[in-house]
Amino acid sequence: MLLEGKKIGFALTGSFCTFDKVIPQIEKLVAEGAEIYPIFSETAANYDTRFGRAQNFKTRIEGICGKKAISSIIDAEPIGPGGFLDIIVVAPCTGNTLAKIANAITDTPVTMAVKANLRNQKPVLIAISTNDGLGANAKNLGILLNTKNIYFVPFGQDDPIKKCNSLVAKFDMILPAVVEALKGKQIQPVLV
Ligand SMILES: Cc1cc2nc3c(=O)[nH]c(=O)nc-3n(C[C@H](O)[C@H](O)[C@H](O)COP(=O)(O)O)c2cc1C
Repeated sequence: MLLEGKKIGFALTGSFCTFDKVIPQIEKLVAEGAEIYPIFSETAANYDTRFGRAQNFKTRIEGICGKKAISSIIDAEPIGPGGFLDIIVVAPCTGNTLAKIANAITDTPVTMAVKANLRNQKPVLIAISTNDGLGANAKNLGILLNTKNIYFVPFGQDDPIKKCNSLVAKFDMILPAVVEALKGKQIQPVLV
């Protein structure tokens, strides 16, 4: 098993349309022996949308991980002093969370968890899903592509004609990207 003994924080933010693609990836990490700590942004934990009820997603993911979700800044804070996570995966990562991480804003459970892991010089792997990746958020993406201990799940344009600034990660590459990030390496190619 590729991830035996690894402790992974798996953080979901409010790109609700991608949850169904992300959940099977969490199952893959569990199947590879990882212990997963689910983390939810307040948005992900609380918004009922046309893609489903927040509580249903939360319960499902808690069931897969066998752990209660971290869904407050207070719950996320011990990740820093405890230093118990080998890596944090942010998938899906909204444009909002991407911008906050790039600009050191720490006002959600997910940004708190990311800050805590970076403080411990541990890796953070980001799987973006945002309509402004090549627009207002391009500068933040650039900052994070050049930031120590931050890695990306390969991403590309999902609809260049109708949403020309939109970028989305290839979620099915989360597992190999985690394996590489744990070795301190960015999986290649980044652009797909
Ligand atoms: C139904 C729905 C779908 C959304 N999809 C996305 C998305 O795919 N990408 C994104 O960046 N924001 C998306 N948003 C907006 C975010 O949820 C919003 O920016 C929120 O403040 C993000 O908070 P968070 O980053 O703390 O989770 C969506 C909002 C709703 C209601």
